[in-house]
Amino acid sequence: MRALALALVLLLALPGTAYAQGGHDPRDLRDLARKNGIRIGSAVDVAALRAEPDYRAALNREFDHVTAENAMKWESVEPERGVHTWDDADAVVRNARRHGQKVRGHTLVWHNQLPAWLTAGVEDGSIGAAELREILREHVTAQVRRYRGQIRAWDVVNEAFEDDGTMRQSIWLKHLGPGYIADAFRWAHRADPHARLYLNDYNLEWSVPKIEATLALVKELKAQRVPIHGMGFQGHLGIQYGYPGDWANVMGRFAELGLEIAITELDVRMELPVTAEKLATQAEYYTRALTDCLSVRACEEVTVWGFTDRHSWVPEWFDGEGAPCLMDESLAGKPAYDALLALGKVSGR
Ligand code: XIL
Repeated sequence: MRALALALVLLLALPGTAYAQGGHDPRDLRDLARKNGIRIGSAVDVAALRAEPDYRAALNREFDHVTAENAMKWESVEPERGVHTWDDADAVVRNARRHGQKVRGHTLVWHNQLPAWLTAGVEDGSIGAAELREILREHVTAQVRRYRGQIRAWDVVNEAFEDDGTMRQSIWLKHLGPGYIADAFRWAHRADPHARLYLNDYNLEWSVPKIEATLALVKELKAQRVPIHGMGFQGHLGIQYGYPGDWANVMGRFAELGLEIAITELDVRMELPVTAEKLATQAEYYTRALTDCLSVRACEEVTVWGFTDRHSWVPEWFDGEGAPCLMDESLAGKPAYDALLALGKVSGR
């Protein structure tokens, strides 16, 4: 731990210095991941995967883990009731298999990007609670079964809590009660007993009420022998906020409950315009996030939410902000990319 902190301090104090401890610098992120005994992944934009050969080449060269950015969400896979559209999700899984990438399934139970038929039916009362529970069971079962054996880890329940630590008043909580969480994990486990099943959330890097409430839920689920195996930290950071300095410690607290850990959606946005100084701060955030993961033995995966500024959700969702990724729009490595490679081998695993 202390050696790691020292290496980090040296790295930050000597910009441009290669800090590979065991021989040569890694040549790409896959190599960096292998040297450090973890997986480094990216979210995949299916349209870009299909249409942009340079995007596809960079994705497959740099990453050994992938998550479909939108293609596995409920509105994508069942836009009409009973009509499944798996093409985009299949494309991500097929590409991953060809290139030796593990896959994170994202996401089975969430309050966003639900199909309109479902939300409208609940709203107008034509779908009652018993039917809703059955619909959810069928959804989880069908999707997990379809990719059985091909998904390393599933984000089973996404964003179950508010920042103040209360459970989110989603249609799931409102109509099914808090038991929907245990149900979803059990159904997923039945459909693919080998997949690692995760809770996933944002702001869990620093929001104390959310951290405490989530820890309490995990303890309760474990006590009920619910098959939960991992905690996913989304990791949507911004340089205008301080780096969440307690993150490694928070990861450690979840690991102590017997969970594996992943950073599932890392990106580091900034207020525009981009400056060299902001890019240097961004590089520091990325290296600290990877270093935090590596300092926790149970942390097995760091996935970025897109790898190029050409395709990121940030400009659309955060007014005036952007440039959150490791590569610029022409796929050149930014300072953050170089800084990650310069970390070299830092873990003893
Ligand atoms: C985002 C996608 O990146 C966007 O393309 C989409 O319009 C909205 O959702 N937390 C999550 C992700 O768990 O699924 C979200 O992805 C980003 C926040």
